[in-house]
Amino acid sequence: MTSRIIGTGSCLPETVVTNDYLSTIMDTSDEWISSRTGIRQRHLVKEETTASLSIEAGRRALDDAGVKPQELDMIIVGTLTGDYVTPSTACEVQAGLGAVNAVCFDINAACSGFVFGLHTVNAYIKSGMCKTALVIGAETLSKIMDWSDRSTCVLFGDGAGAAVIRADETTGILAYDQGSDGERGLHLECKNRTNNNPLVQTGMEPGYTHMDGQEVYKFAVTAVPASIHKVLEEAGLSPDDIDLYVLHQANIRIIQSVAKRLKVSMDKFPISLDHCGNISAGSVPILLDEVNKKGMLKKGDKIMMSGFGGGLTWGSCLIEW
Ligand code: COA
Repeated sequence: MTSRIIGTGSCLPETVVTNDYLSTIMDTSDEWISSRTGIRQRHLVKEETTASLSIEAGRRALDDAGVKPQELDMIIVGTLTGDYVTPSTACEVQAGLGAVNAVCFDINAACSGFVFGLHTVNAYIKSGMCKTALVIGAETLSKIMDWSDRSTCVLFGDGAGAAVIRADETTGILAYDQGSDGERGLHLECKNRTNNNPLVQTGMEPGYTHMDGQEVYKFAVTAVPASIHKVLEEAGLSPDDIDLYVLHQANIRIIQSVAKRLKVSMDKFPISLDHCGNISAGSVPILLDEVNKKGMLKKGDKIMMSGFGGGLTWGSCLIEW
């Protein structure tokens, strides 16, 4: 038994913020941002929330799959920017969709969240505990950015992507790898509330995202190709056998470096970071939906998805479409 993606959907906030706009509110430029990252614009929330984007992405994925919300027995949302500490975003999605039969919870694995969600559903499916699931990657990262830190805030965007997964006896997930390195976790961090009780009040300043960009870059360009090679080896395939690499959209230079290390043409690496920026857990499912809706996925195609980032975490998942 394996797990097959039978539908995809995504939802981006209405408001587009260009690099040129950012250069009017901080000391930056389109030239600096786009030459170092490939990012030209991102979508930022105004009225939308992590839950509202997730619900719409989920609804679109269900429509694409031809599945009713009541058929879902599991909803997992990969996110680090849920609207509440509790309820989880997945429970909010359940309520929004009327998915009354689903068990719902969130996964915080930052930019690996969607891929970790897929692997979790796959484990439930293999054990017989689940047949039809919705996995979502969704973020409103703009609310955890320090908008006076130009080295980090220009990189990120908001949005949600979703996939409907169904148990399948023939094909779907072929091989996978995932891992974590908590020792290096503080290279990309956002602090939660601090201690606050009758015994100690350390203050409740909200945390904002801080990143050592160069350390995260070094991590990504080594961990991602290693993880992909592991999955290829398990599947008995070579890098050329893959039709499309759907990678987390952090930085065009990271993706170019991975392509070079795998000795694969950049033509096999679709890109959404130019118009979306880095949406952490949202990046992989949003890009998957984009290539699906463009008709770029054919039955039998082999697609390698790879997420990497905060934690530090990484995960790669090879599927047959
Ligand atoms: N606009 C203009 N100048 C900026 C800027 C911005 N938005 N952000 C930083 N700078 C300046 C710095 O202040 C610094 O100036 P100085 O030399 O006068 O001190 C200069 O640009 C170089 O900064 P630095 O941080 O060394 O740049 P970099 O070449 O390392 O590039 C990143 C920064 C973030 C683009 C790069 O490290 C990166 O892509 N890392 C990976 C990050 C990532 O993708 N993380 C998410 C993974 S999930």
